[in-house]
Amino acid sequence: MDIVFASRHDGHPEQWVQALRQALPDDTVRLWDEGGAKGAAQVAVAWAPPPALFAQEPRLEYLFNLGAGVDTLLRMPELPAGLRIVRLEDGGMAAQMAEYALYYLLDEARGFSRYAEQQKQARWHRVSALQREEWPVGVMGAGRIGACVARLFSTLDYPVAVWSRTGRAVEGAEAFGGAEGLPGFLARTRVLVNVLPLTEETRGILCREAFSQLKPDAYLINMARGGHLVESDLLTALEEGRLRGAALDVFSHEPLPASHPFWAHPRIRVTPHVAGVTLMRSTVRQIAGKIRAMARGEAISGIVDRTRQY
Ligand SMILES: NC(=O)c1ccc[n+]([C@@H]2O[C@H](COP(=O)([O-])OP(=O)(O)OC[C@H]3O[C@@H](n4cnc5c(N)ncnc54)[C@H](OP(=O)(O)O)[C@@H]3O)[C@@H](O)[C@H]2O)c1
Repeated sequence: MDIVFASRHDGHPEQWVQALRQALPDDTVRLWDEGGAKGAAQVAVAWAPPPALFAQEPRLEYLFNLGAGVDTLLRMPELPAGLRIVRLEDGGMAAQMAEYALYYLLDEARGFSRYAEQQKQARWHRVSALQREEWPVGVMGAGRIGACVARLFSTLDYPVAVWSRTGRAVEGAEAFGGAEGLPGFLARTRVLVNVLPLTEETRGILCREAFSQLKPDAYLINMARGGHLVESDLLTALEEGRLRGAALDVFSHEPLPASHPFWAHPRIRVTPHVAGVTLMRSTVRQIAGKIRAMARGEAISGIVDRTRQY
């Protein structure tokens, strides 16, 4: 198979090409060369592909996306209608994201930042003991990442629920589904963790209406996409004491502008889109495994349903 690697943002494209060549010695892997001759690649491995890729590689059948989310890719006007998109399925990101959510929940529930502050004054004072039943976690999204996040919290005996489009079951978690399941899910949730894909249906889902249905003194962890959050509604909910705080990894405009009020807000923790980073070794292993399966004529998982947008 003829495979082309194209990425607008990756600083080490040669390393990816080399790793793919090693994993797929019987295939041709090359780095896309903008402005070069028309190519005959059937497969692209890409992250934020340059728009010109599609005109220069007219025979592409599959695009392997170097991430789990495909919202930006699907919005590209140049994307050929018949091109099949294969997204990254976990690839080592789910565990990272579960850690991210756990870190911020523990910080709130066990007061580790407060102890750090107290240490500066040599102050010996215990925050009241953790009662897990007071911290019901609700995970929006029960896919590769949501299920991993939910399983971690459930293993640690937090009450956990997941909410998905179809009401998908996750062991150890109460499952809610669809628009009709959302109010019940929010009403039992104090720590809201978002790992939904960004689609027309989920855009703006983290809004005033949702916040008003959560348990009092709720906490928001958004690791999915900035487009899920109505930023002004978050600021109002914090001001009104509806929410106690938020940990945000993703933003409508990235990098988050220096003048943005989130940076200086005492109840908001900002991280620069690092909750789950793509790991080269496991990603190449997954993509190579799927390309070999395709060559054997086998079906592969992770093909994006372009009408559902995920
Ligand atoms: N911050 C980061 O570093 C980072 C890293 C990786 C991924 N992400 C984000 O995480 C997202 C999730 O990734 P994933 O691999 O877990 O995706 P996935 O396996 O496709 O799972 C998506 C889940 O969302 C549910 N869902 C989709 N549309 C819905 C709707 N309208 N209402 C309710 N539930 C809906 C799906 O429901 P069904 O189960 O019923 O289909 C599924 O459970 C990605 O799209 C990406 O945006 C962020």
